[in-house]
Amino acid sequence: MHDIQQMLEEKRAKARLGGGDKRIAAQHAKGKLTARERLEMLFDEGSFEEWDMFVEHRCVDFGMADNKIPGDGVVTGYGLINGRLAFAFSQDFTVFGGALSEAHAEKICKVMDQAMKVGAPVIGLNDSGGARIQEGVASLGGYADVFQRNVMASGVIPQISMIMGPCAGGAVYSPAMTDFIFMVKDSSYMFVTGPEVVKTVTHEEVTAEELGGATTHNSKSGVADLSFDNDVEAILMLRRFFNYLPLNNRDKAPSRPSGDPGNRVDMSLDTLVPDNANKPYDMKELILKTVDDGDFFELQPDYAKNIIIGMGRMDGQTVGIVANQPLVLAGCLDIKSSIKAARFVRFCDAFNIPVITFVDVPGFMPGTAQEYGGIIKHGAKLLYAYAECTVPKVTVITRKAYGGAYDVMSSKHLRGDVNFAWPNAEIAVMGAKGAVEIIFREDKGDPAKLAAKEAEYKARFANPFVAGARGFIDDVIQPHETRKRICRSLAMLKDKKLENPWRKHGNIPL
Ligand code: HXC
Repeated sequence: MHDIQQMLEEKRAKARLGGGDKRIAAQHAKGKLTARERLEMLFDEGSFEEWDMFVEHRCVDFGMADNKIPGDGVVTGYGLINGRLAFAFSQDFTVFGGALSEAHAEKICKVMDQAMKVGAPVIGLNDSGGARIQEGVASLGGYADVFQRNVMASGVIPQISMIMGPCAGGAVYSPAMTDFIFMVKDSSYMFVTGPEVVKTVTHEEVTAEELGGATTHNSKSGVADLSFDNDVEAILMLRRFFNYLPLNNRDKAPSRPSGDPGNRVDMSLDTLVPDNANKPYDMKELILKTVDDGDFFELQPDYAKNIIIGMGRMDGQTVGIVANQPLVLAGCLDIKSSIKAARFVRFCDAFNIPVITFVDVPGFMPGTAQEYGGIIKHGAKLLYAYAECTVPKVTVITRKAYGGAYDVMSSKHLRGDVNFAWPNAEIAVMGAKGAVEIIFREDKGDPAKLAAKEAEYKARFANPFVAGARGFIDDVIQPHETRKRICRSLAMLKDKKLENPWRKHGNIPL
């Protein structure tokens, strides 16, 4: 018996060593942790249960029959993050560059299947050279098996991808179908085709970092949701982010009691919006002063900055926050911001997270670039997302809510549950100046008359009371009581039930 136990421990020790000391040292020299070190940090101490440590590939071509490493380049299993269950796979770059073989894919599929059965999130720590070249189509099949599971799990369990090394070729499509992609600066990159192929096909000279590094995907492409300075920061922030999420789509988002009273008022909000309606202000200030303890976990902070999205808590309860940002493009909705917010609203809706919307939007962005780019279709995504959303929706119009953008931004008409406006809110088809220039076009040569008409239009429409008179606004509130009124609304909405009609699936304008 003793010998068998010893053999087991030896086998385990061999598997834990992955590609061996030399490759581990090379991994560390690049500033990266190993697959196992990452998992140790991700999960609560001693809680990680590893599966399939002894799985090996079945490839016999190109000398692979004699080149087997237990675990086959990916560490899989489950554990606890702050006491809550999560499954994970962590690709081991020290073993065949973390490349995905048929057996490697089977290990990932196994944890995904189990996560679906028990209703717990899946976290992928990606660090891989892509398809295991020696295995050919068997590897491609393995990828497709993972893709299929990503799609089946979408909206059922949260899926998070942390890119911590290479992620290239078709391999990018598994993270792309997960709910969030986080990246580590300088050591991770994602692209469909690498710099060499790009050079051959388009004659562009570009480095891997420029083509698909963390900065690129967090500021240019919008593929990623956040980036971190190194592996340690990335994993600690992932643990923090996990605390906001429910385990699955039947679970309620977790609540974390806070010492911050739900009825706290903040008098400084009364002067947040400048008197001059054309002057910007920072919407983040309102968010930080509204959520529990000023703790806001922003997503995509460097992409489409004219809209802000992220997680916070109100009276302990996780909420998703969407807010126009008047500091950037005056808070206009354009293609990128519509897509950014739409995807976030859909995530919140899928996972029972109430949505708070702060509105200051002068409309959709005009211009040929937007029209040729398909703002009609992309703007419709945000409209569609809000309209199909059945979780509690609380909306606060802080200043402008003009035109179609008024409708889109979680208005009463799209089943907003509680819609507030601040006293200075302007809810109208467009700004007074633009409106008067159209209606009184014949008075173009008479600036005094136009100014008078503009003042008249402003007095008539540029306030929240016309909308209030129709019940489109439930109440006009003092800015300083915003937190209190939202917390009360959320408490009232706690057991909200609303279902959309049965259908196979809707047809969101993609
Ligand atoms: C098998 C691989 C591999 C792969 C790396 N290795 N990628 N083995 N299949 N895809 C091995 C290397 O041979 C090497 O083994 C070890 O991993 C470490 O790789 P290095 O090249 O020494 O590391 P580094 O210099 O850091 O470069 C990393 C890399 C490079 C940029 C990822 O290895 C590379 O370009 N790999 C090939 C990438 C690729 O073309 N993948 C296929 C993409 S297409 P030894 O024993 O020498 O240490 C794809 C299709 C997916 O993935 C389709 C899904 C539908």
